[in-house]
Amino acid sequence: MTEPLLDVRDLAVTFTSGRSWGGDRGRVHAVRGVDLSVRAGEAFALVGESGSGKSTTAKCVAGLQRPTRGSITFAGAPLDPARDRGQRRAIQMIFQDPYSSLNPRMTIGAALIEILRVHRLASGRAAAERRAAELLDLVGMPRSALDQRPRAFSGGQRQRLGIARALAVEPSLLVADEPVSALDVSIQASVLLLLKQLQRELGLTMLFISHDLAVVRQLCDRVAVMADGLIVEEGTVGQVLTEPSADFTRTLLAAATDLPPLDLDLEHRQPTRRSTP
Ligand SMILES: Nc1ncnc2c1ncn2[C@@H]1O[C@H](COP(=O)(O)OP(=O)(O)OP(=O)(O)O)[C@@H](O)[C@H]1O
Ligand SMILES: [Mg+2]
Repeated sequence: MTEPLLDVRDLAVTFTSGRSWGGDRGRVHAVRGVDLSVRAGEAFALVGESGSGKSTTAKCVAGLQRPTRGSITFAGAPLDPARDRGQRRAIQMIFQDPYSSLNPRMTIGAALIEILRVHRLASGRAAAERRAAELLDLVGMPRSALDQRPRAFSGGQRQRLGIARALAVEPSLLVADEPVSALDVSIQASVLLLLKQLQRELGLTMLFISHDLAVVRQLCDRVAVMADGLIVEEGTVGQVLTEPSADFTRTLLAAATDLPPLDLDLEHRQPTRRSTP
């Protein structure tokens, strides 16, 4: 087997509230020893009930949360809390709330150009402007968006812009934490379809966090199920979502049966949400 792109070993995060007087009171063991291995080019899903530690795990991978214990290896090198610029670039996160990832005071063009210049990904202003326009093409947004500020856009459009922002630095791993759950159901499918297309076309590796098992089934290759800070089951999407071995996964699946299946028709690039028969 080839070496994984991302390898997480015995990851733990404990949050301590200020009111702890010794003992375990005031401590939240959000992640309690997670092992994860994500291969280059695959879409790996992390699912589980609310509070099971998915976002905390994702933030550790993206360098936004310091682990209490454990190691994270990326492309064969350890990811220390003080990441170098290249490591920070290589792993980008897309958040649930597209509003928070865009600076309200900057036009989309200015924000993209700034990122490109900070990371020295464009030599000169004209090259940066060209690249910013290409990024909008990539996420299916009109180039006129370059001159507008985030408030001019809908939630779905902002999430597309958030994706463009993440892709600007040419990452190899995209961490997407519930990227569509804040969006209207009617536009969720098109944003998911975009993510899947980009993942395939750009050869991205994706760590995809979701509650929606119907989405995971169609978008991801492998899946790990989290409960109470631990991974209780892991395997291919086919295995885990059709023949779950953990009781917890069965419960999760049972709870998900009322979700309409998402039909990501990649051939025709037409996302549709089928109504349940
Ligand atoms: N900064 C923090 N300080 C204290 N506790 C936290 C912090 N962040 C998360 N927690 C706690 O850690 C646990 C795991 O939270 P986390 O956000 O990782 O769960 P999650 O699986 O992403 O849940 P959801 O599906 O609701 O997003 C929860 O009990 C949460 O309340
Ligand atoms: Mg979360």
